[in-house]
Amino acid sequence: MLEQLEQLYTDSLNALQEADGTAVLDTWYKDTLGRKGSIYLMTRQVGQLNKEERPAFGQRINVVKNELEAAYQARLSELKAKELESQIASSAIDVTLPGRPLPQGRLHVITQTLRDIYRIFGDMGFQIYRSPDVETDAFNFELLNFPPHHPAREMQDSFYTENPDVILRTHTSAGQIRAMRDYHPEPVRVILPGMCYRNEQITTRSSIQFTQVEGLAVGHNISMADLKGTLTEFARRLFGSNRQTRFRASYFPFTEPSAEMDVTCFLCDGKGCPVCKQTGWLEILGSGMVHPTVLRNGGYDPEIYTGFAFGLGPERIAMLKYGIDDIRQFWANDLRFLQQF
Ligand code: DAH
Repeated sequence: MLEQLEQLYTDSLNALQEADGTAVLDTWYKDTLGRKGSIYLMTRQVGQLNKEERPAFGQRINVVKNELEAAYQARLSELKAKELESQIASSAIDVTLPGRPLPQGRLHVITQTLRDIYRIFGDMGFQIYRSPDVETDAFNFELLNFPPHHPAREMQDSFYTENPDVILRTHTSAGQIRAMRDYHPEPVRVILPGMCYRNEQITTRSSIQFTQVEGLAVGHNISMADLKGTLTEFARRLFGSNRQTRFRASYFPFTEPSAEMDVTCFLCDGKGCPVCKQTGWLEILGSGMVHPTVLRNGGYDPEIYTGFAFGLGPERIAMLKYGIDDIRQFWANDLRFLQQF
């Protein structure tokens, strides 16, 4: 019987070496070391031996069992490695192929321009203040010193809602009152970015929808010199230090005095060209000292507080900066345009 065991041992080892896949190996294991496998069956036969032979046989069968178990484990990991290898080889990636390009997104040119503006004013201590796109007539006009039939309303024809007092804001100036009412009597230094809406003829230079960035600073001893210094520095940081600026007197109902700021033309550098209508200058913003009535409407005593405000159009700034000749491009969603920035 011992011979039978040795025979089984060598046969099993051979079969193990011949197994050429993990599936075959599984069967081998069941047949040999499994619950009803050949080793088990052999153990059952111990009873047929006489007493003296039993211990030696028992010992040997244990050794054989352990050896087979170890040989099985070794063969198993060998075959697994082989299978993995061939799997890798058959599904191999050709690393020399060029990669598939991922379409890369980018920020809209106006978002980029807005971020430039935020950064510059942020460095000067202005916080961003958000105010609603849908406004009341009071915030958009009346509290800014535009009485109901004031001719300055003509320039900002509004989109009305079904409620006659509720309109889409025509300018970000509407948020000035909200910011002042939130902060007074503390000083305030904010910029208010956002979309504005006007019922206008759509042309290359005007659209029914555009962004604005409003600025507002209210406090003690704020003067026209602060306005000029702040806006001149802004223009230098945005357009470069060799860009010159000038202020021209203007009119807005909510500022007194009012001024518009021009920068030297980007195309001709101030020499005069069709874009700047031969003047050498391009207008980039409106500004002024906050009107006493507006300060009062915001909750500040105009005897104690003064302030300046300004409003600029990022589309206009981007048009000047990049030489874009049609404002409708910004929101037409044409990738051929957008991907240039
Ligand atoms: N709200 C004006 C407009 O849309 C721009 C403006 C001018 C804003 C002067 C101001 C300002 O804050 O002081 O035309």
